Amino acid sequence: MENKKLRSSDWFGRTGKDGFIYRAWMKNQGIPEYEFNNKPIIGICNTWSELTPCNAHFRDLAESVKRGVLEAGGFPVEFPVMSLGETLMKPTAMLYRNLASMDVEESIRANPLDGVVLLCGCDKTTPSLVMGACSVDIPTIVVSGGPMLTGRHKGNSIGTSDIWRFFSDLRGGVIDETELLSIESAMCRSQGHCAVMGTASSMACMVESLGLSLPNNAAIPAADSRRKVLAQLSGLRIVDMVKQDIKPSDILTRQAFENAIKVNAAIGGSTNFVIHLLAIAGRIGVPLKLSDFDGLSSDIPLIANLQPSGKYFMEDLYYAGGLQAVIKQLDHLLHKECITVNGKTIQQNYANAACYNTDVITTTESPFNSLTGLAILSGNLCENGAVIKPSAASAHLMQHTGKAVVFDSIEDYHARIDSDELDVDESSVLVLKNVGPKGYPGMPEVGNMSLPKKLIQQGVKDMVRVSDGRMSGTGFGTVVLHVSPEAATGNNFAMIETGDMITLDVPNRTINAAVSDQEFERRKALFIPAEPSVERGYVNLYINHVQQAHLGADMDFLRGKSGSKIVRDSH
Ligand code: FES
Ligand code: MG
Repeated sequence: MENKKLRSSDWFGRTGKDGFIYRAWMKNQGIPEYEFNNKPIIGICNTWSELTPCNAHFRDLAESVKRGVLEAGGFPVEFPVMSLGETLMKPTAMLYRNLASMDVEESIRANPLDGVVLLCGCDKTTPSLVMGACSVDIPTIVVSGGPMLTGRHKGNSIGTSDIWRFFSDLRGGVIDETELLSIESAMCRSQGHCAVMGTASSMACMVESLGLSLPNNAAIPAADSRRKVLAQLSGLRIVDMVKQDIKPSDILTRQAFENAIKVNAAIGGSTNFVIHLLAIAGRIGVPLKLSDFDGLSSDIPLIANLQPSGKYFMEDLYYAGGLQAVIKQLDHLLHKECITVNGKTIQQNYANAACYNTDVITTTESPFNSLTGLAILSGNLCENGAVIKPSAASAHLMQHTGKAVVFDSIEDYHARIDSDELDVDESSVLVLKNVGPKGYPGMPEVGNMSLPKKLIQQGVKDMVRVSDGRMSGTGFGTVVLHVSPEAATGNNFAMIETGDMITLDVPNRTINAAVSDQEFERRKALFIPAEPSVERGYVNLYINHVQQAHLGADMDFLRGKSGSKIVRDSH
């Protein structure tokens, strides 16, 4: 493959007026003539933004990648793409995941790139970049920004998963506003993304277990100097990947997806993993269904003791041996021959991994929790399925029947949840509608809604909750999510009324409402669909084209790939 014509030569290798134009403007950056002489051009796709605090250190990280690219004889070019910050973007960063993926895809294809390094960190920045890169399919390597150092407050370790506890403590009078302010300053004390096994960490583990990053990418803290080393080594490696022509489609086989699903179960990864992995599979063209997640992960116990399912933080995972040590424990369950970006198989990569702390990484024989990472439910309430994370739920609610208390929107929920008049007790099932992809729009992370104040004061810690929305990867509780089809489509979930009896049966993978088919039909005849909430622009495009959660909530016209073929000249 060494002599394969570089894609970029169609720009920089040209003679005449076109070649002149392609090179002349680049030279304003001080680039000498020889740089254009058949060197692999490596794009560094950067989601740096001060509005995405988790990725705010990425300009620095890009410098390390560049050093590696230069060392290997490549020509690095850094370019920005839309950056999705989880904490600031309204109504939810998820609304823009598909938009960012379009930015990434078109930026790669339209430019003279032979390979690309994706700098990912905060939750949606990973799937959006991987989705976009898959639709082009040139050699690609992911470098994650790394988790923050563990938050420390009054001698205790704290992180994102504690936020829910801080606020119930505040509501219950356990802490006051002054203490809360001091916690606020202590939690995010270094660069990096959320330090628990939330969505960002789950995504970093996803790319490592898929084989899209070098080993150890997932857990090295952002502030640890070894993160920069990994970035430099990734820059070094991508140049060889171009020479060897190793593309995402060579790595992302059905077997690689199956490995990633198993690893996600073993680490107690985020429920958002399901949606993003389905979307990535849709781009690369690997058949993957929602029901596959249950079958593949149902025998995988929790072996990484990380919040929110367990106790520790990503920093601890790294010191305990990192994700490779976890993957090694799953040796007997994985497809060992899957190749990864370094050209080695997943097995060759974990062969020398070791566990240094069995409190953080244990074995499949003596797991922290025998409950699987994710369960896929079916029933008359979710014709196309729903998701629950048993390892973050309460054992006593795994089989439960209760009366629905329905909220038609997030505003309705906020207006009534703490009202003394609300007819609710701890056996009730809280149902939140219209927080799905089209309905909200964008499918926000509101599914683990706070419990009614009066029940919290009675000491109630968990209740069954059901919604067509998502939950933060850092959240927990007996929360049924991603109900598909969502309420906005006018299917069964939209018809659930307060007082309907709902039965959740996780061991049997069902959730049903005691509502007959005839009664569903009677209610549907009376249903008035909401008017589209946004008339123009990207959000209108999104509402009209987003697919349901069980398909990954990608746009219908973005599934698949258009490849890297060079299109017509610009002048
Ligand atoms: Fe960015 Fe959690 S807010 S990873
Ligand atoms: Mg999140």
